[in-house]
Amino acid sequence: MKAAPVRGGLVALCLALSVSAALGHGDVQPQPVDTAGLAPLGETWREENPYRGDTKAVAIGDSGFNQNCARCHGLQVISGGLAPDLRYLPVGKEGDEYFVERVRHGAIINGMTKMPAFEGVLSQEALWAIRTYIESKHEE
Ligand code: HEC
Repeated sequence: MKAAPVRGGLVALCLALSVSAALGHGDVQPQPVDTAGLAPLGETWREENPYRGDTKAVAIGDSGFNQNCARCHGLQVISGGLAPDLRYLPVGKEGDEYFVERVRHGAIINGMTKMPAFEGVLSQEALWAIRTYIESKHEE
């Protein structure tokens, strides 16, 4: 009789652990980003941010970033140390090329998904809006 609550507690603990393990692998449902109002970009990936400096793209990217990237890269792009601090990504085309390569393919290191690939998950418009937002937070 006395063992029953303990067993229940263990089941709850195991569930909690498997949930946090899933989070650790970045296995979280991506959140759709509403890009209405931004110029459509078509299928071909740009090498340079077509929205740089656009205030609407900054606002859309703010919400897109905070829903899809902040849990690893930190709210307001201020990293808590889990993943690189994106405020220091280079500005302009150099940073754009690096950014788009990374977000399309993610980061798989020694077979572990450190960052999920976002190609086919978020639209090109959403990802460039997020880049516009990140660049608006740039620090030297
Ligand atoms: C599950 C955690 C996670 C999520 C979610 C995530 N990232 Fe990452 N990201 C990482 C990690 C970890 C690295 C570093 C990988 C490495 O060591 O090369 C990284 C690297 C990057 C880099 C390269 C930074 C550098 O200095 O080398 C960029 C750019 C980037 N992420 C953008 C994004 C964007 C934009 C999003 C949201 C659309 C996002 N990430 C979502 C974990 C994540």
